[in-house]
Amino acid sequence: MTISLMQTPHVTDLLARASGLDQPGGDARLKRIVGRIVADICRTVEEFDVTPSEFWTAVGYLTRLGQANEGGLLVAGLGIEHFLDLMLDAREQAAGLAGGTPRTIEGPLWVPGAPLCKGEARLDQDPEAGEVLFMEGQVRDIEGRPVAGAIVDVWHANTKGGYSHFDPSQSRYNLRRRIETDAEGRYRFRSILPSGYGCPPEGPTQQLLDRMGRHGRRPAHIHFFVTAPGFRKLTTQINIEGDEYLHDDFAFATRDGLIPPVVHHDDPAEINARGLNEPFATIAFDFVLNREAADLPGVEVARAHAEAA
Ligand code: BEZ
Ligand code: FE
Repeated sequence: MTISLMQTPHVTDLLARASGLDQPGGDARLKRIVGRIVADICRTVEEFDVTPSEFWTAVGYLTRLGQANEGGLLVAGLGIEHFLDLMLDAREQAAGLAGGTPRTIEGPLWVPGAPLCKGEARLDQDPEAGEVLFMEGQVRDIEGRPVAGAIVDVWHANTKGGYSHFDPSQSRYNLRRRIETDAEGRYRFRSILPSGYGCPPEGPTQQLLDRMGRHGRRPAHIHFFVTAPGFRKLTTQINIEGDEYLHDDFAFATRDGLIPPVVHHDDPAEINARGLNEPFATIAFDFVLNREAADLPGVEVARAHAEAA
């Protein structure tokens, strides 16, 4: 027997009252959004014949998700953070903005206040047996002019896929720096090639992914916020080519234009010239920023972040 209550006067009245739509006070936009979400939940219960036990299991799940501070993980894993990028891309395009380095998700693992360095930095402060990476490039505007004094805020995982602050085995701000570009708009840093991140195996995000037959792995990547006065903030990542999850990111963040070549150097003369004993890798990557303008959609995201350690 198909039961349909959604269109009955009793339920439409219930939904309107539950979201305050019958009241003059409150925030009109918020009331409409809450009303839509509540109605979508009720519609889902009706359509899939969700039992009370299933429903309360879901409520318990969300409670545990919050307790484990994994909301940002699940949102990325369900593709919603990527969808927000697609929406912003489309809004920019509709406003006539084109070009610039593609954006991609921030993820939940940035920490404010990384040490600020001029022109260059070394990110790997904790000793690790990883392949040394030298990365460098230029920040430019859309006309190709260098942007001096831009801040390249860079963060990435270690060789085990862990991020300082969230991984207690790492020191404060390991693999995190802010680099101010020089007069030619250039930045460079030394670090180690990261490994891909994986969701905590016992956490609620991985638990749900398991039930959906999905993995919770990301390809190796390096995150950036690039900011400069008068320019739109760029939130992006580069991926390390060759990673088995390069085009199978559980967070859907891999995008064309964000997979630069990684050059591996094993020539003894080059190794020696860098003051190293082992082969190393280099990546060259330039960032292109768009100018800020009043009629463009905002790119500054109000989002709760972990407190700096
Ligand atoms: C990350 O940047 O590593 C990340 C992004 C989304 C979800 C989990 C991790
Ligand atoms: Fe990451």
